[in-house]
Amino acid sequence: MDPAQANPRTARDDWWRTAAVYQVYVRSFADSDGDGIGDLQGIRSRLPYLRDLGVDALWLTPFYRSPMVDGGYDVADYREVDPMFGDLTDFDEMITDAHGLGLRIIVDIVPNHTSDVHPWFVAALAAAPGSAERDRYMFRDGRGEHGEEPPNDWESIFGGPAWTRLPDGQWYLHLFDPAQPDLNWRHPEVRAEFEQILRFWLDRGVDGFRIDVAHGMIKADGLPDIGWTSATTGRRQIELLGKGRLPYFDQDEVHDIYRAWRPILDSYPGGRMAVAEAWAETPQRLARYIGPDELHQAFNFDFLDATWSADSFHKVIDTALAEAAIVGAPTTWVLSNHDKQRHVTRYGDGEVGLRRARAAALLMFALPGSTYLYQGEELGLPEVLDLPDHLRQDPAFGRTGHSRDGCRVPLPWSGEDPPYGFGPAGSVESWLPAPAGWAPLTAQAQDGDPDSTLELYRRALAIRAEHPALRDAPAGDGTGLTWLEAGPGVLAFRRGDDGGTDTDGGAAGGADGGAHALICVVNLSGAPVPVDGYGVPLITSAPLDGPPRGRLLPVDAAAWFRPA
Ligand code: GLC
Repeated sequence: MDPAQANPRTARDDWWRTAAVYQVYVRSFADSDGDGIGDLQGIRSRLPYLRDLGVDALWLTPFYRSPMVDGGYDVADYREVDPMFGDLTDFDEMITDAHGLGLRIIVDIVPNHTSDVHPWFVAALAAAPGSAERDRYMFRDGRGEHGEEPPNDWESIFGGPAWTRLPDGQWYLHLFDPAQPDLNWRHPEVRAEFEQILRFWLDRGVDGFRIDVAHGMIKADGLPDIGWTSATTGRRQIELLGKGRLPYFDQDEVHDIYRAWRPILDSYPGGRMAVAEAWAETPQRLARYIGPDELHQAFNFDFLDATWSADSFHKVIDTALAEAAIVGAPTTWVLSNHDKQRHVTRYGDGEVGLRRARAAALLMFALPGSTYLYQGEELGLPEVLDLPDHLRQDPAFGRTGHSRDGCRVPLPWSGEDPPYGFGPAGSVESWLPAPAGWAPLTAQAQDGDPDSTLELYRRALAIRAEHPALRDAPAGDGTGLTWLEAGPGVLAFRRGDDGGTDTDGGAAGGADGGAHALICVVNLSGAPVPVDGYGVPLITSAPLDGPPRGRLLPVDAAAWFRPA
C-alpha cells in the first residue's frame, strides 16, 4: 500500500524534513526464529509497535551478507541478505508491511570499504601487485629498504596502523578493521558498482539511504603523512575524527560522488532521500554535503556530544540552526546510536540519567528538523557496562579497550527473565545477554503505565506529529525557533511562529494568542524553576511541583506549554 493512505505525514515527498526516524540495530531488535539473533521477520512482527510509538521511518543497520567482523559494516555481498537475518523475500515482506503502515524504510549503505571476503578483495589477494584487481582497493608498496614500513603514518579508527601487509610484500589500507579494506573511489568500476547497488535497493522500494562514513571515500592525492608522533598517534586520531582536517576525510572530490548519486535518487518517484554519516571541521564544510544536487541531510553529532548543561545545548543548537540556515533545510537531531554509549548512562546513569534522558527527549522532539531515535531509548535503556569481555564483539575492543557492545544488547520486550521475549518461547540466549533486572524496562511492563518512558515517548511523538508548531517543516531558512530569556541553566524556546521575535523576553510572544505555538522549557539549573508564565502544560518529563499556581519545573526535567 502507498504510505500516503496510512500516514499523511510520510506521504509527502519531503517527509524526511520532519520525520521521526527509528534506528533498528537489526541483530538486536527482535528475533523471529529463536536463534538469539534479531532478523527481518522479527522487525516485521514488531511494525505495529513502531507505528504505535509514532515514528515515521525506520533506518535499518546493515543486514547484508557479512562475516560480521564489524557488526555487518563489513559487507561481502551488497545485494544479499545475510542468512542470519533472513532473505530477500523476508525483506520484501517487511518493506511491504512497513509501507502499509505508513512507515518509510531507510537502509544503510557502506561504500568506504568492503569485507575482506568480498569477491573483489578475494580476487585482489589472488592477483599480483599492480594488477587491475588490486586497483579497486588501496594497495601500496611499503617504505623502508625492503618495504617493511607502512606506506604512511595513518592509523585505523579502531586503533593500530591503517595498513596491513600481505605475504607478497604489498600493503592495503583499512581505515577501520583489517577485515574492512578501503575501496579506491577513483576507480570507475567502484563508482559504477555502487550506483547499481543504489538502484537495486531503490527498485525494491527503499525510501532512503544512511551513508556510512560518507566523508571518507576519497583519500588525498599521494596519501600524505599526517606527521603525528608515535606518542600521540592513535589517540589523537580518534579524538580528531571529524574535528581536524585529515587526508582521508572530507576531501573536496567526495562531493562528485554525491552529485552522481542524487540524480539516481531523484529519478525514482516518491521522495527518496539520503542522510550522511559525515564529520567535518566546521558547519560550513558539513553543509557542503547537503543541497539539491547532493544529499538531503547529515547527522548532527554535536547534539549527541553535548554535555548536560544549558550552555552546551544552547551552543550546539545555535550552531546546527546556523548550518540549517546555510543549506536552507532543517537539520537532524540524535541522542544515541549503535556507536555511542546510551544517553541515560552518559547523563549520569541510574535515576539521574533516566530523568535527564526523558527531559532530553522532550528537548529533541521540540527542535526544528528531523529526529533520529535509537532502538531502546523509548524504554529508557541504560548502557550495559558489565558485559563479560569474552562476549564483546566490537573489533575496536581488542585494540583500544573501548567497546560499543553495551548499547547493542537485544531489546527487552516482555517477561521477567532474559532474554525478555526477544525471541519466541524456548529461544536460546540472545547473542549478547540482556542483564538481570530489566523486567521493569520491557515494552510490555511499560505499556499503559502513564509514568513510563515508553508512554512519555508515545505521547510526545503524538503531539509532535499533530501540533502545528512541530509537525511542519519550518519555512524559510529551516530554523524557526525563538529563544526566550529564562535565567541561568534553563533552556526555553518557542516554536510555531516563524520569524516571530520575542525581544522583550516574555514568554507569551506572537499575536495569535499562541494557539499555533509551543514553548519548550528544560531545567538544567540544579534548582526548581517557576513556569507559570509559559502557559498550559501539554506534557512534562516529570510532574510539576507546587500548587496549580506557582508551579515549578523540577531539576533535570522538561515541559512543553501552549502559550496563553
Ligand atoms: C560507521 C558505523 C560504525 C562502523 C564504521 C565502519 O561509523 O556507524 O558502526 O563501525 O562506520 O563501517
